[in-house]
Amino acid sequence: MNTFSLQGKVMVITGASRGIGRGLVSYFIRQKAKVVAIARNERRAAELREDLAGNEEDAAVYALDVCDVPAIEPVFDKIMRDFGAIDILVNNAGLGNPIPALDVTQADWDEMINLNLRGAFFCSQAAARYMIKRKNGRIVNMSSQISVVANENESVYCASKGGLNQMTRVMALEWSPYGVTVNALCPTFTYTPGTAERLDTPSFRDAVLAKIPRGRLGTIEDIGSAIHYLCADSSDMVNGAIMMLDGGWTIV
Ligand SMILES: NC(=O)c1ccc[n+]([C@@H]2O[C@H](COP(=O)([O-])OP(=O)(O)OC[C@H]3O[C@@H](n4cnc5c(N)ncnc54)[C@H](OP(=O)(O)O)[C@@H]3O)[C@@H](O)[C@H]2O)c1
Repeated sequence: MNTFSLQGKVMVITGASRGIGRGLVSYFIRQKAKVVAIARNERRAAELREDLAGNEEDAAVYALDVCDVPAIEPVFDKIMRDFGAIDILVNNAGLGNPIPALDVTQADWDEMINLNLRGAFFCSQAAARYMIKRKNGRIVNMSSQISVVANENESVYCASKGGLNQMTRVMALEWSPYGVTVNALCPTFTYTPGTAERLDTPSFRDAVLAKIPRGRLGTIEDIGSAIHYLCADSSDMVNGAIMMLDGGWTIV
């Protein structure tokens, strides 16, 4: 038996319209998972369907704003009806707007916390209700290296991802007796639409690279490989882990 195989596993990925999430959709289609890609709204979902044309056997697209809590359960119910299982959930949708703490407004706070933390919480809850019934499931939360160390101008983002780590641990404690493991992945800076503006600024990029002993930015392939492991049968004893994928940023 290939204990790294994800063939036929129903894998829900949020924030799938662009950046890391979009890259993960392609990565896990290649691994022969049944990918359920979540885009924020119908317009984004239609664009993503078009982008994925030809992959209809391997990937389906659903619209869900993960900040809209009452909308979450019905979408997971529909996925369950359509696929008969939810094996894996990757809570990837997230936002990191750098803002000095003194300038943060309540709207900034609500936007980042609601997306990065509240959305991930209620998507996990909706998926876990089904996973627990089947006594099998994997949840991976997309955290960040700066969930465990500070980064200037990212007080809200750091709070949201630090909270996500703790949420991960508690869910792992509560749900793993029922076969559901919950882990968090903490990547370093990766070039995406969400980070392009900052990483295209040479002084910022140089400062980032100076903090990564491995000497390079992260890639979507790095992230896909790590999630692949966390979702495979082989990682059955990895539970409540806060896995760094930071090239060593947080060593010192
Ligand atoms: N890139 C990095 O350096 C890095 C490093 C560590 C961790 N991360 C984490 O990795 C994840 C992805 O980051 P990224 O760089 O790929 O970000 P990105 O390029 O900004 O993409 C974010 C994704 O989340 C979606 N999204 C935003 N609000 C949503 C909502 N309310 N409901 C559903 N989906 C929503 C976006 O959809 P739209 O297209 O509709 O906006 C987009 O698909 C985030 O959780 C981020 O914190 C990123």
